[in-house]
Amino acid sequence: MSKKLLITGGAGFIGSHVVRLFVTKYPEYQIFNLDALTYAGNLENIQDIATASNYNFVKGNIKDIEFINGLFKKEEFDGVIHLAAESHVDRSIKDPNAFIETNVIGTSNLLNAFRDMCNGNYDNKLFYHVSTDEVYGSLGKTGLFTETTSYDPQSPYAASKAASDHMVRAFGNTYELPFVISNCSNNYGAKFHYLLIILKIIRHYQFMEMVNTRVIGYSLKITPKQLTLFSIKEKEVKPIILEVLMSGLT
Ligand SMILES: NC(=O)c1ccc[n+]([C@@H]2O[C@H](COP(=O)([O-])OP(=O)(O)OC[C@H]3O[C@@H](n4cnc5c(N)ncnc54)[C@H](O)[C@@H]3O)[C@@H](O)[C@H]2O)c1
Repeated sequence: MSKKLLITGGAGFIGSHVVRLFVTKYPEYQIFNLDALTYAGNLENIQDIATASNYNFVKGNIKDIEFINGLFKKEEFDGVIHLAAESHVDRSIKDPNAFIETNVIGTSNLLNAFRDMCNGNYDNKLFYHVSTDEVYGSLGKTGLFTETTSYDPQSPYAASKAASDHMVRAFGNTYELPFVISNCSNNYGAKFHYLLIILKIIRHYQFMEMVNTRVIGYSLKITPKQLTLFSIKEKEVKPIILEVLMSGLT
């Protein structure tokens, strides 16, 4: 029987690349894209694979516990790649509670539903939680984060993602639920949401010799040469998610 994979947030920037990758690379898998289509979600991001026979779109909200429980009971997913989130730092400063609701409670709803669906049998099951390096705080001019760096979130967004990471780990420790958490840094590329500042800068100043602007305390200088750094082609987006998930979900 073909495996079923749930990808949340698949109409967003990163999620749309992940959905496309799995739909095209694993035709034997049924891929379910669960997305509430908030301001950040856009089905046009994945229009090219919308009619694939192994692609299923589910409009729904991870905050809705009854809906989530029903979906897991009905579909009995083999794995989850959880990307759905409120993800923009500036918005979290304006409305922190919206970030708690989606990023913490929404993640907890998925974990509960996954655990209940598995009912103690986790053979070949995996919950992949996509998080951010912002849980570790801010770096100075030097240094780096590793997986053992202490959590030190600096914004409501980062704090809500940190809390969601803790919930995933807690489900792993308490219920032995198999999980992976990845804490990547900023991603750039096709389908990037226009609200994000770097794309804003690129769009506004594409033709200028040099941009010199202050953004949230940092002085950014972007030359035309550097702009090419952001012109990432879709095929170059190779999420490590693929490797990690497939090694756990055999
Ligand atoms: N973009 C980055 O540079 C970056 C860096 C590190 C980590 N991340 C993480 O990667 C994941 C995806 O980021 P992105 O930039 O693609 O985000 P995005 O904002 O572009 O997309 C988020 C998607 O989630 C959906 N969504 C939001 N709330 C939902 C809800 N309550 N129920 C169901 N769907 C909902 C939206 O409709 C949207 O399609 C997030 O978890 C984010 O924290 C992103």
